[in-house]
Amino acid sequence: AGDSFKFSDLRITNTQDPQPQRAWQELRFGHHFTDHMFIAEHCVEEGWGQPEIRPMGFISLHPAAQVLHYGMCCFEGMKAYAGADGRGRLFRPARNMERLRRSMQRLLLADFEPDELLQCLKALLRIDRPWQPEAPGYSMYALLRVDRPWLPEAPSYSMYVRPMAFSSTGSLGITAPSRTTLMILLSPAGPYFGTGLRPVQLFVDEVNVRAWPGGAGDQKIGSNYAPTITPLVDAFQRHGAAQVVCTLPQGPDPDAALFSESGGMNIMFFMDKASGGGQELVTAPLDGTILPGITRASILELARGWGDFDVSERPISIREVQQAVREGRLREVFGCGTACMVQPVDRLLRESGEAFDTPFDAEDPNTLTARLTRTLGDIQYGRVAHEWSVPF
Ligand code: COI
Repeated sequence: AGDSFKFSDLRITNTQDPQPQRAWQELRFGHHFTDHMFIAEHCVEEGWGQPEIRPMGFISLHPAAQVLHYGMCCFEGMKAYAGADGRGRLFRPARNMERLRRSMQRLLLADFEPDELLQCLKALLRIDRPWQPEAPGYSMYALLRVDRPWLPEAPSYSMYVRPMAFSSTGSLGITAPSRTTLMILLSPAGPYFGTGLRPVQLFVDEVNVRAWPGGAGDQKIGSNYAPTITPLVDAFQRHGAAQVVCTLPQGPDPDAALFSESGGMNIMFFMDKASGGGQELVTAPLDGTILPGITRASILELARGWGDFDVSERPISIREVQQAVREGRLREVFGCGTACMVQPVDRLLRESGEAFDTPFDAEDPNTLTARLTRTLGDIQYGRVAHEWSVPF
């Protein structure tokens, strides 16, 4: 990325109209934004313009902008955490910078130097630091939970960071973009699901295919998300499911379909092994149809480091899960992602009415879900020192 905007050129315009902040208990995921945002624009004739932090507000676009017609856009999800020591930290931010570059390359958007964007992001986080949800101390939190049982088990409040890039090229041809807009929004956030961290039910979608071999399912581009909204709303309205888990059919036998992912999260299965004893954590492999989640990668690394059970990235079919349930071997299912962190799932429901239930107990501190939530939380909130946590 030879031609990049530079952090040293960053222009900062402070808001004249600071907005009131919400108490962290009131935060709903994605509904609130800080006072400032980052923006940088590129055009092929002049390269990158001056990067800017400016008051949060509307942007204007040519009505023919390619993003509005052909969905030429991509995004990232990151979180910034404030620990009990008062320091702010990002979780493995370099990985998001690299994944954003890959998505942008897929759309032929302009490239940039990842460290320059990361420095701009840190500056934005420092400016909007008053908006940063702080991790409440555990004892105060436990008191709060006494008469607010819907609050999550562990504090999971943070600043959700939304980098995004799109083609602002005002031309109706499906042509290589000549204008790129790159932005970062900050959104103080609580748990992704309205149920807090209580287990959710997922609907197994055996009809709509999210991604396929040779497609772009491993890119964080808008077109992977837009078509998922009808199956999602349908699953909620007809089955009360919080999310859909997508499958990839393997011929006419419906039970042979493979579990892929859940749009906003990767899916993991924790099972007793069929033979030889021991347990296995299984998730779909990165074969091009799966979003390479950073939480996914972190969980796999942690679990492999513990060495307490097998950790496999391999295809897992509906039939395999069905058999594990029948034999009482399915222990836990959870989704993982930046927004949802580690989201327990206690039921997978099929159109046929068949359901796969897990014996998950949200009060049991010894589940894998609880262990991962604690371990990741300790790193993210800085309760333990770890190289994955990067101060800002
Ligand atoms: C994230 O986990 O940050 C995501 O990108 C999921 C999003 C679609 C809410």
